[in-house]
Amino acid sequence: MEELQMELTGKNIVYIGGFGGIGVETSKLLVKNGVANLMILNKTWNESAYNEIYLVDTNSVCQFMAFDVTAGLAETRSIFAKIVEKLGHIDVLINGVGICEERDFDLIISTNLMGTINTTLVAYDHMDKSKGGRGGVIVSIASVAALTPFVILPIYSATKGGILTFTRALAALKPKTGITLSTICPGPTETSQWTRMNSSICKEIDFKGYARGRKHTLQSPAECAINIVKAIKTNENGATWMCDLGQLKLVEIKNFWTPPCGKGQCCETAEQRNNTPCGSVERQETKQNQDGKQRDKPNQDQEEGLQNKTTEKVAALPPRKRKYEVSDLGRDMQNMKTSLNS
Ligand SMILES: NC(=O)c1ccc[n+]([C@@H]2O[C@H](COP(=O)([O-])OP(=O)(O)OC[C@H]3O[C@@H](n4cnc5c(N)ncnc54)[C@H](O)[C@@H]3O)[C@@H](O)[C@H]2O)c1
Repeated sequence: MEELQMELTGKNIVYIGGFGGIGVETSKLLVKNGVANLMILNKTWNESAYNEIYLVDTNSVCQFMAFDVTAGLAETRSIFAKIVEKLGHIDVLINGVGICEERDFDLIISTNLMGTINTTLVAYDHMDKSKGGRGGVIVSIASVAALTPFVILPIYSATKGGILTFTRALAALKPKTGITLSTICPGPTETSQWTRMNSSICKEIDFKGYARGRKHTLQSPAECAINIVKAIKTNENGATWMCDLGQLKLVEIKNFWTPPCGKGQCCETAEQRNNTPCGSVERQETKQNQDGKQRDKPNQDQEEGLQNKTTEKVAALPPRKRKYEVSDLGRDMQNMKTSLNS
């Protein structure tokens, strides 16, 4: 494991969906770990869930704010501004909202995927060290459906796969932002999510029977929570965790395409190269003489000839050695801003 273990003692944690089946059990463990503040954002107030957490919360660190993740970016910004005003800063964001009712396409996509994207980007802006923040940790709860899509739940699987890919992309910016991102993929877990589940492609289906028939017995939310907290404390950037049948496993996600910088971490690489966008570095290299001196700018014919030669050379290389002449990609990525700043 590359990262240092993170202690939860004294941390300010925002848990979205903290009143759900997995949320309550995880929240109980978080307060047991001595967090300074646990701010639960949930669509609805849930007295019995709050009381369960309160029983183990001897220091009264748990607070609640009503929030619907489908409310959009402006509402999300506004609630996070209120949280930061209240707590001072956010150390850890847990994206734990998810629904499995596929028949309303828009709702499942805006809850599971857009909701996670909005809250992540807003929290990101507060945490980002390059914008004056203190860094932080963002953990998103996806599903094993992000690792192996469920035939009967194609839209749910797509939203969870989207969370996984979104998280892996942003994790590459950690050297600049100081924000660690990871995804946790629980297997089937005994919560009320199972009673509300419906599929966009099948009329009637016994979901629990389906899970059991495939030998995926349901784990308890308490077992799942222990492993979620373990994964959060391990604090490994870009990690994908599978948390199924009471076990926690780090999943290796392979990259099948080699991006222009060759490493898949363009911004990080650009930063190491003194903030020069990775695409333009490749361009400059081709314009230098062997002794390293910059030669005169070529005219248009020379430029085209050079480009053709480079393309031929690139095509002759085995795929992993290829370096593309992409002038704008690095710059675009460096200038990447969340729409929050606009
Ligand atoms: N239970 C499982 O088998 C299972 C398996 C894999 C992944 N997951 C994922 O784990 C997470 C938690 O699942 P769970 O089983 O505890 O679900 P749950 O239904 O018990 O809890 C979900 C919580 O989210 C809240 N919520 C729903 N819509 C909301 C919205 N629009 N805005 C704010 N809050 C909203 C609900 O009020 C509830 O408190 C979800 O992302 C789910 O997809 C669950």
